[in-house]
Amino acid sequence: MELPFSESFKIKMVEPIRKSSREEREQWIKAAHYNLFNLRSDQVFIDLLTDSGTGAMSDRQWAAMMLGDESYAGASSYYNLKNAIKDILGFEYFLPTHQGRAAENVLFSALVKDGDIVPGNSHFDTTKGHIEFRKAKAIDCTIDEAFNTTLDHPFKGNLDLNKLEYELQSHPKEKIPMIIVTVTCNSSGGQPVSMKNMREVYAMAKEYGIRVIFDSARFAENAYFIKVREEGYADKSIKEIVKEMYSYADGMTMSSKKDAIVNMGGFIGLRDEELFKTASQFNIIFEGFITYGGMSGRDMNALAQGLDEGTEFNYLETRINQVAYLGSRLKEFGIPVQEPFGGHAIFIDAKRFLPHLPKEEYVAQTLAVELYKEAGIRGVEIGTLLADRDPETRENRYPALELVRLAIPRRVYTNNHMDVIAVALKNVFDRREEIKTGYHILSEAPIMRHFTVELAPTVNATCVAE
Ligand SMILES: Cc1ncc(COP(=O)(O)O)c(C=O)c1O
Repeated sequence: MELPFSESFKIKMVEPIRKSSREEREQWIKAAHYNLFNLRSDQVFIDLLTDSGTGAMSDRQWAAMMLGDESYAGASSYYNLKNAIKDILGFEYFLPTHQGRAAENVLFSALVKDGDIVPGNSHFDTTKGHIEFRKAKAIDCTIDEAFNTTLDHPFKGNLDLNKLEYELQSHPKEKIPMIIVTVTCNSSGGQPVSMKNMREVYAMAKEYGIRVIFDSARFAENAYFIKVREEGYADKSIKEIVKEMYSYADGMTMSSKKDAIVNMGGFIGLRDEELFKTASQFNIIFEGFITYGGMSGRDMNALAQGLDEGTEFNYLETRINQVAYLGSRLKEFGIPVQEPFGGHAIFIDAKRFLPHLPKEEYVAQTLAVELYKEAGIRGVEIGTLLADRDPETRENRYPALELVRLAIPRRVYTNNHMDVIAVALKNVFDRREEIKTGYHILSEAPIMRHFTVELAPTVNATCVAE
């Protein structure tokens, strides 16, 4: 008999978590104004809000932390990280930052101006936020297949070359500081980009004289999908695939809290020395001196080690199998999920789950709140709240997909937890007809509102302020 699959690690340290009653959860979520970001972590049983910074570091990462060099300038930890970035990703120049959006802030300060356009594939919200904050425009060139959650396509993160070329032809080169390729594509469901697509985008970019920057938070998961799904890569190691991926990029921004398996950190990788020098000035103003940029020496050491571990096949296989395990359990229960399953998360298609709710009542948020009330599981809305308002008209932007994302922290939960999540969602699914109304907004911030928005239930289409 073939041996079943099992994790490629054993557990050395544990952290207790606490169950709660439905009554407690109903009170807590009401006090949190139906925004799951406002809950305390001890009010949550299984926390799937994000896979960002929530992973468990390995014994080798903790050991590396003890060797951190906390010198202000020229620390050995900086050089450890510099060497790891050069070896694994191939970039000569790098700037440490405290997290991914800080890398965007520094690099975009050097590149993006009022009136620019930045084509890409489903830009992440902070990426779009940093573009729009500079009065430039993010243009989504993701393939249409990405927006059909039932369609089986191996690389739904791909850019549509026709859409991209249209943008490159319609705007002068000076107005396009970069093309952003997001690997994997968080906003469209953790979907990967194929190597072929990266190669073609890069070739087109070079034809038009435009640089390509990879938003790299989950680059290793993307490499895993290339290995298992794209012809010609089955026998290549993850590190070989990663090297080829980055041969099609002029630079990268990285949120190290994902595939580098650290709790905090980020960086920029670049080939162009001039751009590195310009960006260095912004790094010093916003983050810190260029050899620490908002990170402790110990954190840079853990990150260097994490980059190595995060690009190992066994680690990635364990991780992606767990996500797929949850996806398959949900499918068995008939719950509408984005397919194929993403790398870091399972995305529930809220429009198919609650088809009777109007889009004005924040369908995915309604489902996320129901799941919390059911079992203390915290997911996150990837829908209208996240899509924010159009910066010019201030109207709600209704995205093609209304999703609830269940992001799985790395090396944290077991498959028993996955079973609890699946059954909790089944229970909500079984009583979906009873969920008759959603929510309306009481207050919101002018940008990136989903973090702090306050909501109230909409009862019988009458707005009720609580
Ligand atoms: C694709 C992508 N880019 C950028 C970021 C921003 O990174 P950070 O949260 O470290 O600021 C994220 C975070 O989730 C992301 O998923």
